[in-house]
Amino acid sequence: MNTLTKMALGLLGQLKPEPAQGEAADTIVLPAANMSGGMPLMQALAQRQSQREFAPEPLPQQMLSNLLWAAAGLNRPALGGRTVPSALNAQEVDIYVALDLIMVADYARMKRVPVAQRMAYAHTCAGAMAQNVYLYCASEELATVIRAWLDRDALAKAMGLGTEQQVLLSQTVGRKAPYPLLSASAAS
Ligand SMILES: Cc1cc2nc3c(=O)[nH]c(=O)nc-3n(C[C@H](O)[C@H](O)[C@H](O)COP(=O)(O)O)c2cc1C
Repeated sequence: MNTLTKMALGLLGQLKPEPAQGEAADTIVLPAANMSGGMPLMQALAQRQSQREFAPEPLPQQMLSNLLWAAAGLNRPALGGRTVPSALNAQEVDIYVALDLIMVADYARMKRVPVAQRMAYAHTCAGAMAQNVYLYCASEELATVIRAWLDRDALAKAMGLGTEQQVLLSQTVGRKAPYPLLSASAAS
């Protein structure tokens, strides 16, 4: 990546999102995740890709529940095990759902991990979550892309994060745009 691209992406990361409109429920209880079905793993890997054009409609709650389970759900409830690995099983990365998914580390859960390793291990865990989301999206024919160029300070403030929490990554997920937007604008 050249310096100009880095500068442009840095500037993009400073853009502030439009404030959300309307009333939101305090709590949304999602249906239980459906842990069967989906595309065969090798096929999902063959389909995995970043896509940046999204249709405007929201995802159904069942799909959101399945997506969150794929990213970081309990897969061994008796042991508290999850679909994603974490250093010393600290399970320090939470996923917040806003306009994007936002992976947030809580370093308070990493007291047994040497301080020098904490950030690297939390990013490793968030990266594994992001790949789980990529595979779920490939399986369900959804569009997704990781977003790392973010205004982390603005997000942390808007989300009311504590001093031990850090925004690591964001990932947009949605229905694919019904037609390739770039070709449509090139044609007009
Ligand atoms: C750590 C990381 C950060 C990324 N950040 C961004 C980003 O901020 N914005 C974006 O559009 N894509 C971002 N991407 C997606 C890459 O551009 C994409 O994975 C790459 O172009 C390869 O395309 P593919 O995912 O379709 O194979 C990021 C990917 C990774 C792994």
